[in-house]
Amino acid sequence: MCGIIGYTGKEEALPLLLGGLERLEYRGYDSAGIALIEDGKMIVEKRVGKIRELVRSLWGKPYKGKTGIGHTRWATHGEPSTENAHPHTDEKEEFAVVHNGIVENYLELKRELESEGVKFRSGTDTEVIAHLIAKNYNGDLLEAVLKAVERLRGAFAFAVITVHEPGRIVGVKQGSPLVVGIGEGENFLASDIPAILPYTRKVIALGDGEIADITPEGVNIYDFSGTPLTKEITVVPWDIISAEKAGFKHFMLKEIYEQPKAVGDTIRGLISSGSELPFSLKSFRRVLIIACGTSYHAGLIGKLWIEKYAQVPVEVVFASEFRYSDSPVSEQDLVVAVSQSGETIDTKFAVNYARERGAYTLAIVNVVGSSIDRESDYTLHTHAGPEIGVAATKTFLAQLAALYFLASSEHPQKERLLEELLKVPSMIEKTLEDAEIVEKIAQKYMKMKDFLYLGRYLSYPIALEGALKLKEISYIHAEGYPAGEMKHGPIALIDERMPVVVVAPQDRVYEKTISNIEEVRTRKGKVISVGFRGDEKLEKLSEEFIPVPAVEEDLSPFVTSVPLQLLAYHIASKLGLDVDQPRNLAKTVTVE
Ligand code: G6P
Repeated sequence: MCGIIGYTGKEEALPLLLGGLERLEYRGYDSAGIALIEDGKMIVEKRVGKIRELVRSLWGKPYKGKTGIGHTRWATHGEPSTENAHPHTDEKEEFAVVHNGIVENYLELKRELESEGVKFRSGTDTEVIAHLIAKNYNGDLLEAVLKAVERLRGAFAFAVITVHEPGRIVGVKQGSPLVVGIGEGENFLASDIPAILPYTRKVIALGDGEIADITPEGVNIYDFSGTPLTKEITVVPWDIISAEKAGFKHFMLKEIYEQPKAVGDTIRGLISSGSELPFSLKSFRRVLIIACGTSYHAGLIGKLWIEKYAQVPVEVVFASEFRYSDSPVSEQDLVVAVSQSGETIDTKFAVNYARERGAYTLAIVNVVGSSIDRESDYTLHTHAGPEIGVAATKTFLAQLAALYFLASSEHPQKERLLEELLKVPSMIEKTLEDAEIVEKIAQKYMKMKDFLYLGRYLSYPIALEGALKLKEISYIHAEGYPAGEMKHGPIALIDERMPVVVVAPQDRVYEKTISNIEEVRTRKGKVISVGFRGDEKLEKLSEEFIPVPAVEEDLSPFVTSVPLQLLAYHIASKLGLDVDQPRNLAKTVTVE
């Protein structure tokens, strides 16, 4: 979490840094700051709150410096305050650092520096980096950074500038993401590609243990021993238009409407990159799907498809739990890491754990060149384009498409299955035609305090995901549960104040779900159902009915998830909440 950006070139750095920070804001938004070198002096400006607070504070201050760094923070060490906002400097304000991640041994380093007389001004772990670099500086920033890095433990990325060498930025990556953007007479550093997309599409994704030394004239990459490395430049296929709101009120709404394209592009991308996978699902003893948040819910659906089509046992585990388990992973396992960002630290560590034990690792990621993409044996890319809203929507459906593709890979009727999958984008489009119904329901129920989401079989993970969406962006308590398990506990919660969202496509468990709806009605719960268009029985049993197009049983998650995203969106939007940047969350979680 936290976003960092750096610019050195021929333009004034400030507007570029602020623009980049706005695009990185989804990574954290507790405070923000910039540092610039101007006339041989270090200028540092920071504010608590969102980037717009920083922008406001800069009105009437026409800084002209052409080299600078910026930061948007998601607090880990030290509360959100101006003192704790980045950039952090050394005592003489000659060096400024922006940092993402955690320096695990910072207390030990802080004590050591304090015993040498250094005065700390913040409660952050970052400040030690600035002091360490200043202490080791002997006329060459790269050399000082290399020496400082030797002392740091943890997962981090940082960028540093100094008044002694205006025009130079040194960036370090160890665990947290950092990319270099290559321009003409100008170069960039950023936590994520979209931050620099308006300026360049040529990027170098740094690997762990790598340092970028950038000036307007060039970029040099080294390892931590100072040995120069040759790195490949990737040309990113996205363009900035896909990272703007295009007339929608929020990115999240835009991204919900982009789902037909995201799924279509993903399917076509996977088919055209060769439908033959370099492994056979059946050759493994089991498949382990590892993920967090929404990606975990995609994994739960993937399990049902893989077990059905490939007849291989599948386990789905939260990455944060898996990492500290004693799971007996071996070369007989296929470990599938599902991650939009490809940077979630828990998932990344889980991949490393699996690789160390000889498992074959498959990544399903959206961000090309991300850590998990690079560190896995093979990757299925979701082609959803950049997702800016913190709550995942289009990348969830794109992950489902990739998991369905994987599950069908060895099925004797693989071609037929893929043909069915290709019809999904138009089905999602039809689902979106009924968005107004969902908006009206949102209006009616937006003041409720609790929601229960129920579903069975493929609709159970959809219920979990629907509840997660509502919690994330509307701050309303919501619980997802398997409909058949309701009688073992949550049924006690039901009364006339409890809206119960039931996902009930006409599948193998339809009749059972109908019985569960009756149980809710008997206890006066308000049933909001999602079912196939024309399902009169379901409609009659429900207080509210949201129709989705009838699809084959296995494809129902692609359509049933959409109204639940819209329900959460409209409730949060009507409550006047910050839909794209909900409180306390961040899009990419690079801390444990
Ligand atoms: C954060 C995001 C979620 C996301 C989860 C996993 O919590 O807010 O939307 O599902 O991380 O992220 P990943 O990038 O690994 O899919």
